[in-house]
Amino acid sequence: MMIVDVGCSSGPNAVALISTATDAIHGNCLQINQPPPEVCVLLNGLPDNDFNMVVKNLVTLRQSKKTIVVTGVAPGSFYERLFTSDSLHLVCSSNSLHWLSKAPEDLTRNHIPVYDIDEHARRERLPMVHEAYAQQFRKDFSLYLELRAKELVSGGRMVISLGVIDKAKFDSFYVPLYGSSSEELREIIEAEGSFSIREMRVHDPRTYMTTTLSTPTRFVNNLRALFEPIIVQHFGKVMDEFAMAAELYWSLDGSLQEERARTSRTLC
Ligand SMILES: C[S@@+](CC[C@H](N)C(=O)[O-])C[C@H]1O[C@@H](n2cnc3c(N)ncnc32)[C@H](O)[C@@H]1O
Repeated sequence: MMIVDVGCSSGPNAVALISTATDAIHGNCLQINQPPPEVCVLLNGLPDNDFNMVVKNLVTLRQSKKTIVVTGVAPGSFYERLFTSDSLHLVCSSNSLHWLSKAPEDLTRNHIPVYDIDEHARRERLPMVHEAYAQQFRKDFSLYLELRAKELVSGGRMVISLGVIDKAKFDSFYVPLYGSSSEELREIIEAEGSFSIREMRVHDPRTYMTTTLSTPTRFVNNLRALFEPIIVQHFGKVMDEFAMAAELYWSLDGSLQEERARTSRTLC
């Protein structure tokens, strides 16, 4: 039997789905008094995935299961052909297919930001942005189905699970952070009265930000260093996904410059 997990990620979780699938097949065969089939498992991820770790975990998995004979990786996008025709019996994917092949072109081409600081503009555009994403998903997911249909044997099965952030958790997420202006600082210090201000200097954080936070990756790494504990505490293990989404978002033309200009005070 050929079993694949598409969008496997790295780390111990990468083999969890495959392991569950092989156990289920084994258990089922025992129930119906059939010898379990020899199994080949393949894990797919984008070429930048850490396959070193995945391969080590695959070796451990093979050693722990009698039925797994062949293990391997299939790097590439699941929006392309990855496997030979009529070769797969079970295709699994968990928490991966919400990743689109690209951001909707209607938005990027027309420089329509997904998130606008102006709440009114943001609310007004929301249906259009939502529709653009929905259309891209429809296109990508249809392609995914078409490709996998070619690779699955007749009667093969596909198990898909998609995850989203809990709305209640999203609505109750507050970052305890405030970037005050120099006027506000002055006002509070004077109102409190214990100190007098001898000198107040405002440096321009954008000078250091042009070098330190010059790329989406650096910017996201910086956010990660600042906010990872608070995000993980509130949402659970979503940090890798958050970092990928944020990097993708800030790779859009002009979005990083806008964000840096907007949050410069807060970040310093
Ligand atoms: C949130 S992780 C899920 C990992 C794992 N399946 C799980 O449930 O823990 C999503 C994974 O999908 C991968 N991914 C995103 N787009 C992909 C694509 N077009 N082709 C292959 N993998 C992709 C990402 O690199 C990431 O490793």
